[in-house]
Amino acid sequence: MPRAFSGIQPTGDIHIGNYFGAIQNYVKLGQQLGKQAIYCVVDLHALTNPAAYDRDLLASRTFEATLVNMAAGLDPEQVILFAQSDVREHNELAWIFTTQTPVGELERMTQYKDKTSKLESVPSGLLMYPVLMAADILLYKADTVPVGEDQEQHLELTREIARRFNYHFGDTFPEPQAVHAEDALRVPGIDGQGKMSKSKGNTLGVLEDFASIWSKLKVAPTDPARIRRTDPGDPHHCLIYHYHKLFSDPGVTAVVEVECARAGIGCVDCKKFLMTGVERSLTPIQDRARVLRADADVVHGALERGAREAQAIAAPVMQEVREKIGLVRAR
Ligand code: TYM
Repeated sequence: MPRAFSGIQPTGDIHIGNYFGAIQNYVKLGQQLGKQAIYCVVDLHALTNPAAYDRDLLASRTFEATLVNMAAGLDPEQVILFAQSDVREHNELAWIFTTQTPVGELERMTQYKDKTSKLESVPSGLLMYPVLMAADILLYKADTVPVGEDQEQHLELTREIARRFNYHFGDTFPEPQAVHAEDALRVPGIDGQGKMSKSKGNTLGVLEDFASIWSKLKVAPTDPARIRRTDPGDPHHCLIYHYHKLFSDPGVTAVVEVECARAGIGCVDCKKFLMTGVERSLTPIQDRARVLRADADVVHGALERGAREAQAIAAPVMQEVREKIGLVRAR
């Protein structure tokens, strides 16, 4: 049976890019794989982000990220859901991988280049970020990794790290493959300026209240070639149409596509239709989140159990690695 692993950073509010690009696939794979689906709130990764790190907020953000995943449909009874820092083996394996990974390979990562271009002083943890990510995945010998397209390069590096380890120390790790949500490879931000991302502040939050979502949608860019209401639009160049494909019934999306192209619908009405889909999709998640928040022990309990379950898989793999690399003394 395949084994899936994925991680999400507790660096701020979980947004619809996370939801459509990754969390929906976590849920789908969880239903197929049960306890072979392992999901982790990667709080150690969150430490590498100087702009988002806040000592006083980190633990509550980890709680919050767990809560949103559960509200979005992840059942911790069915899958394994835990916080990265609760399973110490992640750090240990990451250290071993850093000793095998050339700095040049890490400096080539585009996310590293993007993140560091704005920093005066670069924490070395940012360079090591993808090594810790490889350790997350390989510690469970996972072969399937549900993620957005932005993680593809890190997955390539993970395969390279697995290959190198297997070559030097004998067959140990699989070469994991990414699984993408084909309709949400890279959900665009509400500013229409590339990918939706916590760090760019162009997000729609999964738990954001609808008045706030509407205030952002109202001013969001549409097809730039459609200047007047009477101009025909090209839905395929319109952010709002992109969101319709995620949120609205296929019937509504098809009508909007045709009507936009023949100037039969204005952008404001098109956005109002979208808002109906947004409310329909997010209301059940927001309702479940409210219930979970009122009973925080359910979330804390899920993380505690998840850590025990994850550790039971991680510990023997780590022991195998220790033996293979020569750390275990013979008596
Ligand atoms: P993070 O926290 O940035 O994002 C969590 C997941 O959401 C996906 N995602 C998107 N998908 C489509 N469109 C978007 N606009 C969008 N924004 C985010 C991400 O691709 C990701 O799947 N490095 C990872 C965390 C991580 C991890 C791992 C993932 C650490 N260890 C091991 C997989 C396996 C990250 O920063 O995710």
